Amino acid sequence: MEITAIYPGTFDPVTNGHIDIIARAARLYSKVIVAVAVSSNKVPLFDVEQRVKLLEEVTVKFDNVTIIGFDNLLVDCAKQYNVNVILRGLRAISDFEYEFQLAGMNRRLSPDLETVFLTPAEQYEFISSSMIKEIARLDGDVSSFVPKVVQEHLIEKFNRG
Ligand code: COA
Repeated sequence: MEITAIYPGTFDPVTNGHIDIIARAARLYSKVIVAVAVSSNKVPLFDVEQRVKLLEEVTVKFDNVTIIGFDNLLVDCAKQYNVNVILRGLRAISDFEYEFQLAGMNRRLSPDLETVFLTPAEQYEFISSSMIKEIARLDGDVSSFVPKVVQEHLIEKFNRG
């Protein structure tokens, strides 16, 4: 059976931790759709087109990975793309409560859709996009946390290009 997974998130910006999860998912599933949320509760630094474009660039080597932007309910977006599995990354116990709630809500909304959790390699466990943005804004070195192209975009955004 062909299984398609959707990996949703804000990806503002994509980090090496996200890419680690995408690489694992690409090995597990026939098709992986990385779904960039347009309207989340956060005010993003990069607009959705930029976030999609950056993700496309950094995942170009994975043949079975597609990037989309979405602005509707995740479960509806999943239906649209005939998805079987929602994929989320779990970095630490602190992620669990929110993820448990999200998975529960999504199951109520679409009982046939399973949520699956993957953990990133341990060197990525502490990475978060907001920390990356703060470090970049304060002129710190983010080169070991994000791909080069993302680092360049961050530098440009904070006007130090
Ligand atoms: N490596 C590094 N960082 C990671 C990571 C990994 N493997 N996995 C998650 N993160 C970080 C992200 O960078 C982000 O950090 P930040 O908060 O500092 O920006 C944080 O973990 C969580 O972000 P993310 O995984 O992108 O999730 P989110 O909480 O921003 O996204 C949606 C939530 C988009 C999935 C959810 O709001 C959604 O489904 N929205 C659509 C509308 C909908 O259906 N709503 C009802 C849901 S019940």
